[in-house]
Amino acid sequence: MVSQLDSSTDLSTLDWIDDVTQIEQYCYTHLQRTCTKFQDYLARRKQQQAREYFPTVSHAFEFLTKVAPVKFVDGAWLYAVLEQADLHAHQDLILTYLEELGLGDPLANHVCMYQDLLCQHGLEQVTQPLSPIYYEQAAVQLALAHVGVDDLAWVIGFNLAYEQLPLHLLISNYELQELGIDPQYFNVHITIDNLHNGHAKRSIDAFYQGLSTAKDQAIYIKRVKQGYLLNDIGKSSSQIIAELDLEQFVLRVFQDKARIGQFIHNDKCQFAGKTINQWLSDPDQIQDFLNILIEKKCIIQNEAVENSRFWQMIDQPNGRMFGVFNATEKQIIKDWIQGARLSTRLKPTHLEHSTAQTSKQLKTNEDVFELGQLKKSIQQSNDLKHQLSLLKPYLAPNLHATATGLWATQHYTRLLFPAHRI
Ligand SMILES: [Fe+2]
Ligand SMILES: [Fe+2]
Repeated sequence: MVSQLDSSTDLSTLDWIDDVTQIEQYCYTHLQRTCTKFQDYLARRKQQQAREYFPTVSHAFEFLTKVAPVKFVDGAWLYAVLEQADLHAHQDLILTYLEELGLGDPLANHVCMYQDLLCQHGLEQVTQPLSPIYYEQAAVQLALAHVGVDDLAWVIGFNLAYEQLPLHLLISNYELQELGIDPQYFNVHITIDNLHNGHAKRSIDAFYQGLSTAKDQAIYIKRVKQGYLLNDIGKSSSQIIAELDLEQFVLRVFQDKARIGQFIHNDKCQFAGKTINQWLSDPDQIQDFLNILIEKKCIIQNEAVENSRFWQMIDQPNGRMFGVFNATEKQIIKDWIQGARLSTRLKPTHLEHSTAQTSKQLKTNEDVFELGQLKKSIQQSNDLKHQLSLLKPYLAPNLHATATGLWATQHYTRLLFPAHRI
């Protein structure tokens, strides 16, 4: 991250931050512009124009899988603030962090919510792993989680950018709902991040708080700007949306399936002189094999999926390949075959795992013992700072979404913000 913060970085796009008294007004103006663009979007949709982000459910699935690395560390950049000796000086940021963690409620913890969303739609394993660029922004956020006391201006700058409402969030929220995918994770970032008194407002208050105690205000503002620009590293949601490619997405599904499929088929059936096992043995051949299936009319695109023999084989209970593809993979194949024109919203029955919350229960005897020990240590201490320091490791980005982390977050909130306890 240090190389991303070198002094040669062009900060001129952030000159507006120099006018510190106008920052809130700038954010309001920016918000108004975003909302106007969203109203324009809604007007287009009212005139029966097509969805602009996700033509089919599978485009939304691809989006959800590709933004997952960032969503799994949601809020992580604020963890460094818990390290501060003077917790009251950073109340805005600490409370924001605790709210990202749902105050310890798994239904409101943003990482748990996203895990559950992927789990509900069977997307945890689909086309994994992603290429490294999808992890870069998440790595930045994790690096910020561990900056020292003197480097908090980077966190404050990063947070100032991250908590403002982007247009893509409003449109994603709208189109996911339209497609029958629960948009609650996205919706909560419209509501809880609001500029009136939510995270966006607190991000501005935190900027002023840091400014008032900065040893050198010019250095502070420069670092805030550097932190602000760290939001631009890696793939943004907007870039991911612009690059959605159902052809490539479905190809990955077939390539993943071919890892076993290449050993399963018999040699009776041949296509262009090769057996099916031979076609499936090399990931680079799968696209050509799919093209042959289309040529031979085994797959008929842009028609109802029932017209394709391949679909009948994988979908009908007596089909030769029934059960090979799960509901999520079949949805992707269906959308690819039928195309956007025939796409439909997701049926409620698609939900793969409706009991996703079970992942937040204590899993092993060691987990039960660890939580018991933590509770005991807390009870034995009368010193607030000591209690907070015992709890803090469990609020780290890698632990807060576990059962122990959720309990620790609830207790931390109770100690520091009694009025906000759940
Ligand atoms: Fe969040
Ligand atoms: Fe937030």
